[in-house]
Amino acid sequence: MPIKLVTTAAELRSHSARLLMQKQGASQGLVPTMGALHEGHAQLARTAVEQNDVVVASIFVNPLQFGDAVDLDRYPRTLDADLALLEAEGVDLAFAPSVDEVYPGGEPLVRVTAGPLGEKWEGASRPGHFDGALTVVAKLLHYGIPGAGLPPSGAFASSGVAGLPAYRAYFGQKDAQQLALVRRMVADLNFPVDIVGVPTVRSADGLALSSRNRFLSDEQREAALVLSRALRLLEDRANAHEPLDLGSAQDLVASQPLVDLDYFEVVDPGTLEPLAENCRETPFRGEGLAIIAAKVGPVRLIDNVPLSS
Ligand code: PAF
Repeated sequence: MPIKLVTTAAELRSHSARLLMQKQGASQGLVPTMGALHEGHAQLARTAVEQNDVVVASIFVNPLQFGDAVDLDRYPRTLDADLALLEAEGVDLAFAPSVDEVYPGGEPLVRVTAGPLGEKWEGASRPGHFDGALTVVAKLLHYGIPGAGLPPSGAFASSGVAGLPAYRAYFGQKDAQQLALVRRMVADLNFPVDIVGVPTVRSADGLALSSRNRFLSDEQREAALVLSRALRLLEDRANAHEPLDLGSAQDLVASQPLVDLDYFEVVDPGTLEPLAENCRETPFRGEGLAIIAAKVGPVRLIDNVPLSS
């Protein structure tokens, strides 16, 4: 079925309700994006399509999460290619609202505050970024609530709470801090949605896919591979029940002159607090997340791998 493009919340509600009726649907999935879609987003869409009867993808470059107007202007806008990718994955509806549609009164006075979890790691170098991201995610999750335009009897098969369709939203594990914060927001503020984290997609040489990779020169791209190599080193050690020896993995990154390391740590996957020092000297046990961020030329890159032993 060809994808339907809608630009207002009212259209989104009526079209998704109609689709749920037509398909006798029991579930709706939302894939929030900022466009400039790549294979990583295709994987989010694919997972959502596998798990839901109706799937909506949003495409909205959210000004609130950019600290710098230049970055906001520079963010690639590729709507036609994005729609083609989503359609190929079987997404039913693309919601691409204007800034005025999402923020009709200008910047919102009341926002979601990410709190201390939003101030560390990525938050430390991008103040306010996670407040802006969570504020728009809260709005998108509300826009995407299924069944809002359905008649009260709901002539659709129901598997959700109180006769409503099940509702899931899909986020990439690559943005680990964003995913942890969205999970906390949904749990702390009782949003009626299940958050699904989708594993990072990598190119054959290991580089995590990102809309920002297009700004790397060939030489910078080659240098950036050290990030995923260093993460893989830790993953291999965890799998082998060896000490992680984070120091030697940090040295590997430091040996690459084009890479300016910001942080490289092993943290608790939920709180993002660094794991105790002894995890680095004794064989690794339990669950962890190795997170890394670095500037390569003009581009800030982030990556992570889950560790389990
Ligand atoms: O991860 C992103 O693309 C954005 O932060 C999101 C979740 C779409 C909110 O603008």
